[in-house]
Amino acid sequence: MKTARAIYEEGDHKWLAITRDPNRPSFLVDTNEYLVIHGEDSILLDPGGSEVFPSVFSGISTAFDPRKIDKIFASHQDPDVISSLSMWLEFNPNIRCHISWLWTSFVPHFGGNGDTFVPIPDGGMDIMVGGQRLQAIPAHYLHSSGNLHLYDPKAKILFTGDVGAALLPPGEDSLFVEDFDRHIRSAEGFHRRWMGSDKAKRDWCARVSSMDIDMLCPQHGAIYKGEDVKRFIDWFSRLDVGMLKS
Ligand SMILES: [Fe+2]
Ligand SMILES: [Fe+2]
Repeated sequence: MKTARAIYEEGDHKWLAITRDPNRPSFLVDTNEYLVIHGEDSILLDPGGSEVFPSVFSGISTAFDPRKIDKIFASHQDPDVISSLSMWLEFNPNIRCHISWLWTSFVPHFGGNGDTFVPIPDGGMDIMVGGQRLQAIPAHYLHSSGNLHLYDPKAKILFTGDVGAALLPPGEDSLFVEDFDRHIRSAEGFHRRWMGSDKAKRDWCARVSSMDIDMLCPQHGAIYKGEDVKRFIDWFSRLDVGMLKS
């Protein structure tokens, strides 16, 4: 089962990380889910696949009532990101799913109707959670053609979906990156193959370099914290992506 751990807490503002599941079937890619709570309000980031729904739901239950969740943010359309949508809607049919406008007629194949989706324009938008402003910021073509990240200016946390993802070997389950050089070896193959545009990558690196970020939270693998945030952006800016090696 997954567990929810607080990675940030200041007053009534909190981030829970629902991280790796040691009991998940080995044929599934492991995922991290994050719940941003402000007062009584919350938003669930990349809720995960239908297969892991029971584990995510019970993991959140240890710290927050998951039936109260009425907002979801999906960084993109992948099944490991949002195929659990119909299950969340069974608990709360009023959930609103914030996702790139590009995917609002594709993701309903996973559940929901015309009222479920809040289309995010290509330039991004603000999402209010209990009076706290979060910012959906563009990350198109990294890797999806309609892809957004979510920045929390209060916690200084950037949720980056598949950017920063690492497919860690069994047993490596620390919450935060501990040895950057060792960790990044588990991220390199993934980024080379999945990140389709070198120009999009350079634009993203330039944009996030100017932002105040204490933690960079990916959907797979460990969280980058402190100096490792800059190390990751520098590493990614130099990485050759967008072509298969012949
Ligand atoms: Fe993906
Ligand atoms: Fe993913």
